[in-house]
Formats: sequence, C-alpha cells, structure tokens
Amino acid sequence: MIGEIVVRKRLGASGITRRAMLAGGLATLVAARALRAAETDAPLKDLARDRGILYGSATSAREIATDADFAALIVRECAAIVPESDMKWGEMTVGDRQFDFTPGDRDVAFAAAHRLAVRGHNLIWYRNTPDWFLALSDRQSAEDAMVQHITEMCRRYEGGVFCWDVVNEAINPADGRPDGLRKAVFLEKLGPNYLDLAYHTARAAAPDAILVLNDYDQIDDNRGGDARRAATLALLERMKKAGTPVDAVGIEAHLDPGGAPFSAAKLRQFLKAVAAMGLDIHITELDATDENLPASIAQRDQMLADAYRQFLDVALDEAAVKVVMTWGLSDRYSWVNSDQISPGFRRKDDLPSRPLPFDRALQRKPIWYALAQSFQHAPVRTPTKAPPAVAAENAAK
Ligand code: G3I
Repeated sequence: MIGEIVVRKRLGASGITRRAMLAGGLATLVAARALRAAETDAPLKDLARDRGILYGSATSAREIATDADFAALIVRECAAIVPESDMKWGEMTVGDRQFDFTPGDRDVAFAAAHRLAVRGHNLIWYRNTPDWFLALSDRQSAEDAMVQHITEMCRRYEGGVFCWDVVNEAINPADGRPDGLRKAVFLEKLGPNYLDLAYHTARAAAPDAILVLNDYDQIDDNRGGDARRAATLALLERMKKAGTPVDAVGIEAHLDPGGAPFSAAKLRQFLKAVAAMGLDIHITELDATDENLPASIAQRDQMLADAYRQFLDVALDEAAVKVVMTWGLSDRYSWVNSDQISPGFRRKDDLPSRPLPFDRALQRKPIWYALAQSFQHAPVRTPTKAPPAVAAENAAK
C-alpha cells in the first residue's frame, strides 16, 4: 500500500504529485482510488448505496442524546443504525419481568426522524439474559418467557426495525456438541430446537422483518474458524430443511490484524455456500482491535485500514452481502476501549485503541478511506429489503 501512503501525504490543493502518478500502474491505481475517495467527500452511506449496500453503525440512545456532534456524524455517514445494547433483554431488564423500552424507543425515533434503517440487536443472547429467566426451573416457563419477549419486541418495533438478530452467537464448537451449538442457557432450558421456536416466533410477530442468525469468528483461518464455518453451515442446512424462517447470516467481523490469520479463499468459499442457500449476508459488527500493532498512530492506522480493506474487498465480492455495519463510528465510543474487551485484546502499552473510521475528534482516519474505497470498488448488487424510510431517502437522491 506504499502508493496509498504517498497519495495521502500529497493529497491537497495540488492533488497527487506527478511522481506518484508516474510511479507505475499499481501506485497510480492506488493513488486514483484514494483520490476518488478523498475528493468525493461523499458520506460512506452514499458510496455504499451506489453499490446496493446499506452502510451504518452501532450507536446508543445515550450517545445520540448527549453528543450532538456525534449524532450529526451518524446522520451524515450512515443509512442505518443498530442499538449497541439498548434492545438487549438483559440491558432492558429493570426488575423481575419489568423492562425499560425507553432507550430502544429513542433509537427508533431518532432513526425515523432522520430516515435511517434500524437493525434490531438482539432478541436472545446467552450473554445478556435477565437473571429471573436464568432462575426459571421448568421448560414451559422458559419457553413461555422467551416467546413472550420475542413477540413483544417484534410487535413493538414492527416497521421501525427492518431486521432482527434473532439468536445471537448460538455456535460454539469448542463445547464439543456434534451440532456445534453453544452449551448455554437457551439450549439447556429448551433443547436445540429453541432456535426454531425463536425464529418461528419472530416471523409470526414481525412477518416483514429479515431474520438473521448472527455470530463471530467465521473469518479466522484456523481450526476454530474452520469449525465455526462448518457448524454454521450445518445449522443453517438443518434449519432450512426444517422450514425454520431464517433469511440472513450475520458475520460480526471483529478483525484482529496480527492476531487471527485470514484466508480470502476460505472466506469466499463460506460466503458462497451461505449465498447458495438463498440467504443474504450482513456484516454486523465490523471493527478491529490493534493489540498486536505498533504504538505509532500513523503505522497503526494504516495497518488497521489495510485489515478492513483486505476483509471488505473479499466480502463485498459476494453479491449476497447487502449490509455493512461498523461497531461504532468513532473511537470516542468503542467497546474496544472499555472494560468489555477481553484482556487478550487490550494493548499492553495501555495506549487507546483506534478501531473505527473516525477518531475521537470525529476526524476521518485511514479506516474511513478503506471503507470508502472498498465500497467504490464493490460490484453492484440488488439492495436489501430496507424499510420505507430508507427507500424514500434513496428515492429522494
Ligand atoms: O447502560 C449501563 C449504564 O447505565 C451503567 O452505568 C453502566 C455501568 O457499567 O453499564 C451500562 O451498560 C453497559 C452497556 O454495554 C452499555 O454501555 C453494560 O454494563 C455492558 O456490559 C455493555 O457492554 C456491551 C456488551 O456487548 C454486552 O452487552 C458492549 O458495549 C457491546 O459493544 C458488546 O457488543 C457485543 C454484541 O452485542 C454481540 N457481539 C459481541 C459484541 C462485543 O462483545
């Protein structure tokens, strides 16, 4: 990516230097790409939409309410938002079977006011489930509670949420089950068919929503990644054969440059296999940790941008990939710099990580250019079935 570095240093009133443009085919191509992304000044949502891709970011009612500059950046850059935690069953719980819908309602209202689509995240997740549910001792009570929760969420946000991560992170081959399912609360209380019940319940309550099976580490080139890809495909085959309504696969894509190895061939093969089932693919939580990268901000930013580019150039070659969500828009708000990140992904030098397209001052970073260039060079595809609000937005362009 030398050409790209040269270009970025000289991009300005005079544009690219003659030397860079004459340096040879690759540098010129790279220079032209960077210039287009820099010159267009178009927001990421427009660059993505021109290729049939819906781009957005995770956020929260708190960020939107307390940070007007950040909220304005979300509106400028994104065609969609996903509540990072506001709609999670555990986060919403304020007492025994008592819930606070206010943050989720505010997210949906903000999106409607700015004609943004909303991804619903998530209906059930073993890691964020109310204590009172965990304490239920009999299967029927657990089944009734899960069905009631899914039904209530889908009905409440029908028309505001265009897709739901119905079951989050159901796969965990390391648990040793032949079906690769995670041994956790829903499996223990309801058996493996909890998935089918969850998706049928969501379809009944929100017949127009896209129902997504969301998970992580399907992109790693190692035994864990191989097992996760195989288990995901096997689960989808079983669900499709059983007539269970699942419409798309969510790939979280928490990148880890210098950590987990990456195989373009294996990712292409996996995406192709999912698409061959007639499913869409959503990139749902794209960001990158930098615990393995140098302290230098310039070097780190470029290596992070390269990791985004490497992943996206492969992923976006697959026409079934319709949605790309970064797991945040600015380093000002990232779980990577919170106590939520596993110690193994924290920098040893305690420098703040730089996982997202905008820095803490809301200025573009090389990651922004990587997203812009990947969008600009992606094949055009049929857009996802977005809600009327976004369709109206697109029509108005
Ligand atoms: O809202 C409360 C606040 O009132 C309270 O003062 C504060 C005290 O620490 O906690 C706040 O809730 C936190 C919430 O994020 C909102 O910031 C929770 O403690 C914290 O556990 C929660 O962490 C989130 C985590 O999921 C667990 O829900 C992270 O921000 C979020 O990035 C992370 O996202 C997950 C995806 O949902 C699924 N895929 C993996 C990804 C990373 O773990």
